Parts: sequence; structure tokens; C-alpha cells
Amino acid sequence: MLKLYKDKNVSLKYLKGKTISILGYGSQGRAQALNLRESGLGVIIGLPSKSKDRKIAVKDGFKVFSPEDAVKKGEIISVLAPDHKHKELYEQSIHKNLSPGKTLVFAHAYSIYFKLIKPPENIDVILVAPHGPGELVRKLFLEGKGVTSFIAVEKDYSGKALDKALAYAKGIGSTKAGAILTTFKDEAIGDLFGEQAVLCGGLAELLRSGFETLVESGFPPENAYLECVHQLDLIVELIKKYGIAGMFQKISQTAEYGSYVSGKKVVNKNQMKNVLSEIKNGNFARKWMKEYEKGMKNYKRMKRYWESHLLQKTWERLTKLLS
Ligand SMILES: NC(=O)c1ccc[n+]([C@@H]2O[C@H](COP(=O)([O-])OP(=O)(O)OC[C@H]3O[C@@H](n4cnc5c(N)ncnc54)[C@H](OP(=O)(O)O)[C@@H]3O)[C@@H](O)[C@H]2O)c1
Repeated sequence: MLKLYKDKNVSLKYLKGKTISILGYGSQGRAQALNLRESGLGVIIGLPSKSKDRKIAVKDGFKVFSPEDAVKKGEIISVLAPDHKHKELYEQSIHKNLSPGKTLVFAHAYSIYFKLIKPPENIDVILVAPHGPGELVRKLFLEGKGVTSFIAVEKDYSGKALDKALAYAKGIGSTKAGAILTTFKDEAIGDLFGEQAVLCGGLAELLRSGFETLVESGFPPENAYLECVHQLDLIVELIKKYGIAGMFQKISQTAEYGSYVSGKKVVNKNQMKNVLSEIKNGNFARKWMKEYEKGMKNYKRMKRYWESHLLQKTWERLTKLLS
């Protein structure tokens, strides 16, 4: 059974009067820091001296410290630096400055579940993982709404770890939409799988393959883009509003019948299962850490591939034409 918490079941009192140190001021860091502060909680920021985001945090009116000092000063330490940097951040700045009773908060269970970080037993370790980028967490908060999130408890030294996770979720606006209880294991695996196989990786490859198939058969790139990519948001909107079966009722019957007979031909579920195995057995996390430690050569090559692809150039041309 889904365990869902809304505003009315949750109290901020478990965080009131405590200092929340947010390490990182990027997508999640900025949104969460601003939302928590506007929920009446005390927030400071921890960033390395060379971080480009220091200026933004200062401009937003926050006191900014080194990560070490922010960990020393805070009772609640929210680790919102990129996942692949958590290990060195923990070893260099967090570990030696933790004292009994402090709380570590994560927005993704990755570094705890895959054991890049092994925190001591005498602290709380919790997860508050919003289901959306920071920009959305901030936008919906300002609109008086919220983004749902997964919450979980890995270590409950204080006996109040779940209350703190819920209060944190409320502080960032999540309990307006709903905070859903899960485990570090399920969030770590499920989140990686969803983004790799479906939402980001799988979707990008589906769109690229569709676009290239039409272009290679002689279609102008603009036409291929309009047919395979441009209308995506409309379909997503229908799915969110009516479900997948409902979306099929809203498109033409020709599109509906074609989808039933052809859709499954272009997706390989066995490969999805392989992706899931690589995540579950830790190979993906090991590969990604190795890539980071070796200077991200492959990562940068793949990034350049997408940036210079005809799909991106076509998006640029069409966006100018249609604006
Ligand atoms: N973005 C999302 O959609 C999303 C959604 C849910 C959960 N999450 C999770 O949220 C966490 C943060 O991700 P993000 O996307 O917000 O990252 P991000 O946008 O890349 O921002 C990372 C921030 O951390 C700073 N940083 C880098 N090294 C640091 C260090 N050693 N100490 C302190 N700060 C450091 C960066 O500063 P500089 O760049 O100036 O170095 C930047 O301000 C991750 O665990 C991620 O999985 C993200």
C-alpha cells in the first residue's frame, strides 16, 4: 500500500530552530534553500571557494560558507552536490565534521545505496527526493503547489528521522502534492532505471531513431522533427490528464490502431532488463565513478555528439522560425 503524506499530517516543528546547511546551490540546492527559508526555516549554504554558484547564493541573501564550516554549523546537512562528487565531498568535508545527532539529507539515494558514502551509526540519514528538477520545485512552491517526492529513512539514530524527512518535504513544498514513503534501495534503483531506460535515455534514443529513420529515407529534417519530436508535449499532457488508455481515445483511430500494432515492435524489453541488472549489481555506479575519476572523456564525447547532432540543429532552426 502506498504511504502518502500531505501537509495536514506533517509538522515543521522537527526542523524549527535548527540550522539547515545546503551543500550545493544548483538545480535542487537553490530551489530547496529558497523554499525552506520561505517556510520559516534557518538555511545556510556550503560551497567550495571556486564555485560559480557562490555569487548567486549571496545575491539571494544567504550566508555562504565552505562545505566544512557549513557542516560544522548545521544540524541538518543536505547534500545537494552532484552525485558523482558525493564521495570526495563526504571524505574531505563532511565526515570529520559530523557529530552525534546530526542529520544527513539526500535528494537521491545513489551514494548511500551504492556505498560511495558510509556514514556513522550515530546520525540520522534520510531521503527527500523530489520528482522533478529544482526549477519546478521552486515554480510550483511559488504557485502554492508542490512537486511530489519520495522520502525514506536509512538510519534513525534520533528516533525522529521520519518526522525530520517529512518536515523537510513540507519545507520544500512537497507535502502540498504528496510525500511518498519508500526505501533507499528502491529509490536508488528505480530512479536510475526510470531516467536511463525510459524518461531521458530511452526517450532521447526513441526520438533520435525516429528522426533519423525519416531523414535517411529522404524527409527534410524539419518535417522529421515536426513528426517525431515536436508534438511530444501534447501527448505527454494527454497521458498525464487521461492515462495511456485515455490518450489513445483522444488521438485519431488511425493513430490509435497504428500505435497498437507498431509500438511494441520498436521497444526491446530484454534490453531494458539488462539495463536494470547493470544498475542492481552496481556495475553502472562503478562505471560512472571510474568515468569521473578518469576525467570524463567518454562523457564529454557523448555530450558533444548530442550537441552537434542534426536533431539539435533542426530544433534551433525551427525554434527561431516558429517563435
Ligand atoms: N536536477 C534534478 O532534476 C534532480 C531531481 C531530483 C534529485 N536530484 C538530486 O539532487 C542532487 C543535486 O543535483 P542537482 O541536479 O541539483 O546538481 P547541479 O544542478 O549540478 O548542482 C550541483 C551544485 O553543487 C555544487 N558543488 C559541486 N561540488 C561541490 C562540493 N564539493 N561541495 C559543495 N557543493 C558542490 C555546484 O557548484 P559549482 O557548479 O559552482 O561547482 C552546484 O552548485 C543530486 O543528488 C541529484 O541526484 C536532482
